[in-house]
Amino acid sequence: MQTITCSAPGKIYLFGEHAVVYGESAICCAVDLRTRVQATVGNTIKISSVLGDTGFDQDTYPYVCAVIKKMSEMTHIRGISLRIDSDIPVGSGLGSSAAVTIATIQALNLLFGCGLELEDIATLGHSIERMIQGAASPTDTYVSTMGGVVMVPQRKKLNLIDCGIVIGNTGKFSSTRQLVSNVALLKKRYPQIIDPILSTIGRLSQIGEELVVNKEYEAIGRLMNINQGLLDAIGVSSSELSNLIYAARSAGAYSAKITGAGGGGCMIALTDSCDVEKVASGITQAGGEAIITKVTEHGVKVEY
Ligand code: MEV
Repeated sequence: MQTITCSAPGKIYLFGEHAVVYGESAICCAVDLRTRVQATVGNTIKISSVLGDTGFDQDTYPYVCAVIKKMSEMTHIRGISLRIDSDIPVGSGLGSSAAVTIATIQALNLLFGCGLELEDIATLGHSIERMIQGAASPTDTYVSTMGGVVMVPQRKKLNLIDCGIVIGNTGKFSSTRQLVSNVALLKKRYPQIIDPILSTIGRLSQIGEELVVNKEYEAIGRLMNINQGLLDAIGVSSSELSNLIYAARSAGAYSAKITGAGGGGCMIALTDSCDVEKVASGITQAGGEAIITKVTEHGVKVEY
């Protein structure tokens, strides 16, 4: 085999971003926005996407180059041509870096017969994210590999949620590395205040688990709104995110909160399936880009 295309999904957090970096529980869902990587064996390294056509360029493609470097330690890669296309906006909190990392690992794994299993792919993906971002929990790479709704760090698969999900993108780039480091500084300066906030976020995820299993979406929404208040308290919201969050709630969403690192990027709203258009239009009127999506059980896969 000389060419293969693999894809991996982005993700949203119902609960637990930032707290998960300190070992607290989180509930994260793979969503139906995917990154596809077409890999063809060749004589040189070529990488292309909307970001540009390059060779081995670590500034433009840090994650993809890190995958090539790591996998060259397992197998001989003389040359590879990678074409990347993605539904996931970059730097928006939807796990674009995890998705491109995981899809590239699987494409090279299958093309060069490295024999990596899904658990190995998630572990390698996490080590690459950690190396590039500084601190990174295994959540994004694990969910992108396995798909579905996952409770972490327990790595427990929950049932899929089937209510409406609307993502609102502020269009502002957000740096996960910067936001994780801001929270770390705050935690260091005010441990008596920040530690209980992070453990309360973890507790929300634990209570949320049973609600997800029982499909109690209004109750999940109430807890997500509390989670949003706590994310605001640790300084990862922004006026743009707050605008979209309140617009979605006013348009009838059960809940609306940041997803991912915050500071910019995206928020999510959980809605009754009948209300998705109304909530999407509320987000658009407030200046965001609305994306209606759903949870997917498909993690990394081969595209035929
Ligand atoms: C980023 O998608 C989620 C954070 O919790 C960081 C991480 O888990 O690595 C902010």
